[in-house]
Amino acid sequence: MQITFYGHASLGIQIDNINIIVDPFITGNPKASEIDINTLAADYIMVTHAHQDHILDVESIAKRTGAKIISNFEIVSYYEKLGIAGHPMNHGGQWNFDFGNVRYVNAIHTSSFPDGSYGGQPGGFVIKTKRKAIYIAGDTALTYDMKLIPKAYKYDLDLAILPIGDNFTMGVNDAMIASDFLKCDNILGYHYDTFGYIEIDSVNAKAKFDAELKSLTLLKIGQSIEI
Ligand code: NI
Ligand code: MN
Repeated sequence: MQITFYGHASLGIQIDNINIIVDPFITGNPKASEIDINTLAADYIMVTHAHQDHILDVESIAKRTGAKIISNFEIVSYYEKLGIAGHPMNHGGQWNFDFGNVRYVNAIHTSSFPDGSYGGQPGGFVIKTKRKAIYIAGDTALTYDMKLIPKAYKYDLDLAILPIGDNFTMGVNDAMIASDFLKCDNILGYHYDTFGYIEIDSVNAKAKFDAELKSLTLLKIGQSIEI
C-alpha cells in the first residue's frame, strides 16, 4: 500500500492497481500548487465529511475519472444529484470493495456543505487489505470511540492517519493519546499548517512522539510512504 500526501487532509492511496483519493482539497491550497489534480488517477474518492477543505476537488476529479464516492449516505446522495455515482455507508458499517474492506467509523466534528446543506455526520475510515490495516481519522476530536477500533472491531493497525493541527481537531498531545487508544504507534500526521489556525511546531511534535517511543511521520506535499 502506497500513501501519498497531497496537502492538508488530502491523500492518495494506491492498493495494487486501485487508486483512491481521500478528501481532495488541492486547488484551494496554495501550498499544494505543484499538485495537478488533472494528473491524479482515481477509482474511488473517499470523503470523511462535507466541509470545503475536504470536498473542494471531489466533483472535478470524479467527473474526469469516473471515480465512485465512498462516504456517508448524505454526502453520496449530494453527489448522486450531480450525476456522480457513489457507495453510501454509515457509522459502524463495513463493506468489501475490490481493494479491501472499509469501515466508516465515528468522528466528533461537524459536516455541513459549503452551501449550508446537511452533510450527514462526519466520520473516519478503516481500510483493511489482505496485508495491511490503516485508520484515516478525518477531522475529529480525541474520542473514546477510537478504542473500539482495536478492541471491538479487532483491527491490528499498521498506520493511523490523525489530524494534529488543533483548533478544529485534535492537536499533537491528543493524537498521542489517540495512538494509545488505537494501539498503534505509527502515526502519519495531517490537517496542520495549511492556514493560520492550525500551524504547529513540527520539530517539537516529532520530539514528543519520540519521547514516548512512537513515530510521527510528516510528509512533504507530494511525498509518499509505503507500508
Ligand atoms: Ni472539517
Ligand atoms: Mn477540515
